[in-house]
Amino acid sequence: MKYLKHLIEKKKKHDPIIALTAYDYFSARILEECGVDIILVGDSYGMVKLGYDTTLPVSMEEMLIISKAVSKAIKESILIIDMPFLSYQISIRDALFNTGRFFKETKAQAVKIESLESNVKLIEKMVKMDVPVMGHIGLTPQSVYKLGGYKIQGNDSISAEKLVRLALALEDAGICSLVVEGVSAQCAGKITRKLKIPVIGIGSGPFCDGQILVLDDILGLNPDFTPRHAKKYIDLFSIIKKAVREYSDNVRTGKFPQKKYFVSMDQKEQKRFDKRTERF
Ligand code: KIV
Repeated sequence: MKYLKHLIEKKKKHDPIIALTAYDYFSARILEECGVDIILVGDSYGMVKLGYDTTLPVSMEEMLIISKAVSKAIKESILIIDMPFLSYQISIRDALFNTGRFFKETKAQAVKIESLESNVKLIEKMVKMDVPVMGHIGLTPQSVYKLGGYKIQGNDSISAEKLVRLALALEDAGICSLVVEGVSAQCAGKITRKLKIPVIGIGSGPFCDGQILVLDDILGLNPDFTPRHAKKYIDLFSIIKKAVREYSDNVRTGKFPQKKYFVSMDQKEQKRFDKRTERF
């Protein structure tokens, strides 16, 4: 089993950290078997699996169900779970209670919190209560309306400086690692060099300690949209569609099911059966 300290060791060795999201048992098994360092149960689940327009409607209950499924597959990888919108913002009591549910019911080693200047103090309090927190700055999807859309952050010197300050404040608050999303490569690179903790980038260029992507994006499961930052390694939507078409065609033409897919009574038993049901 890898622990959070494994990420620090990788940073020190300049060995890139590999992270991906998962939302179910078998996807998590694949990630495990490929040696992925961090499996994140992201609230992106709401958008890629439930078809929501934003991550805002995702609930604690939804996150718990999928986190438990992912957790069952965990052997070596580090499981980190996203705190969904409104599960931590209202009070430290809520934040600790909801975090506690993830630690109690799954093998999570940390929770991820979308981090703004306004919640650095809350994160500090959580860390003081021994909760390992992964920060998340830049394009923070739970603030999509405040940000005015899913736009690149830290693309000018003033906003980039603000992000570096926020990253440093979060490190001081005690976070164990930081996701930097949708930030200019220069800004993400500077943050990575300034921080001792591991910095994982998404759409933030090559200078981070590691990379994270949404699994469904690299598998090509959404035919309508692939974010600019995501490389589509396979077009699973088309592959699955081809399989479903072939199956439908097989059923229509009687090619499925063949003998190996069902059981038959022997002749004697069939005769008895016909007799028993004759009068129906
Ligand atoms: O919800 C999510 O999947 C995330 C990653 C994209 C970092 O926050």
